[in-house]
Amino acid sequence: MKKPAILVARAVFPEVLAHLQQHFEVTANQDDVLWTPAQLIEHLQGKQGAFTTGSQRIDAALLAACPALKICANMAVGYNNFDVPAMTAAGVKATNTPDVLTETTADFGFALMMATARRMAESEHFLRAGLWTSWRYDMFAGSDIHGSTLGILGMGRIGQAIAKRAAHGFGMKVIYHNRSRLDAALEAACGASYVSKQDLLQHSDHLLLVLPYSPEAHHAIGAAELAQMKPTATLVNIARGGIVDDAALAQALKNHVIAAAGLDVYEGEPAVHPDLLTVPNVVLTPHIASATTPTRLAMAQLAADNLVGFLLHGKALTPLN
Ligand code: GLV
Repeated sequence: MKKPAILVARAVFPEVLAHLQQHFEVTANQDDVLWTPAQLIEHLQGKQGAFTTGSQRIDAALLAACPALKICANMAVGYNNFDVPAMTAAGVKATNTPDVLTETTADFGFALMMATARRMAESEHFLRAGLWTSWRYDMFAGSDIHGSTLGILGMGRIGQAIAKRAAHGFGMKVIYHNRSRLDAALEAACGASYVSKQDLLQHSDHLLLVLPYSPEAHHAIGAAELAQMKPTATLVNIARGGIVDDAALAQALKNHVIAAAGLDVYEGEPAVHPDLLTVPNVVLTPHIASATTPTRLAMAQLAADNLVGFLLHGKALTPLN
């Protein structure tokens, strides 16, 4: 029997590619060329499956131009690059990679919060620039993590994993806001209390954003929200670009409306708002929250298993539609 044809749209672990090649006729992109939408459509011709990452937009126009396509398996838990209703209407299965990255991403969120609160990037730049000549009582004095109040906006799997670290490991008071409230047992396990968005903004010493991107979440944190936060507060975004109004945040950091921010995701990334690059009180990382080798491998394997499961056995492991 002829193997189904698939496209792997970005470079991937060689062992995952080899696994896919056992089951499929694979067109790979190990040179990791960033195709335009038109080039992606060209490469997808005759392909029943696509292994995608957040950098390929799958929308109605692409689907109309790729009638053979049956499944797109995203190597990410977030899937705002997918127009899921359009995929459903076109009869194309969509899958993501939940669970396998939860703990790794929670670790990173915590690390970014600590780096932000304790001014690690700013002080490292100072040292590297040869500016450290003496001790001073207030040199790079930041804010405490232990015993402080952590606010979490978006209380899915990653938010819950961060809450557990905070409540049980660092003695933090954890408050959260989410579209729906967790049940009492889950709240207790996370050591977290549900509050309104306004209370979250006003009472958090550290505010962590872990909500999925949606049109409603666009600029959920803008100038008005930043103005409600404590001037000593830190803001950390490991969710998606566009949830924070980056221009407003840069302005707020410059004017010390809040103390500091840690960002792993940006509006229009990999471009970063130029004003963010000029303010010292922000830690900037290039969308790496899930980037440990074992976790990225697990994500790639799950995306591959979704393709194998669906195209060969009719069942995707982690379907979105
Ligand atoms: C990373 O941002 C992901 O959604 O997996």
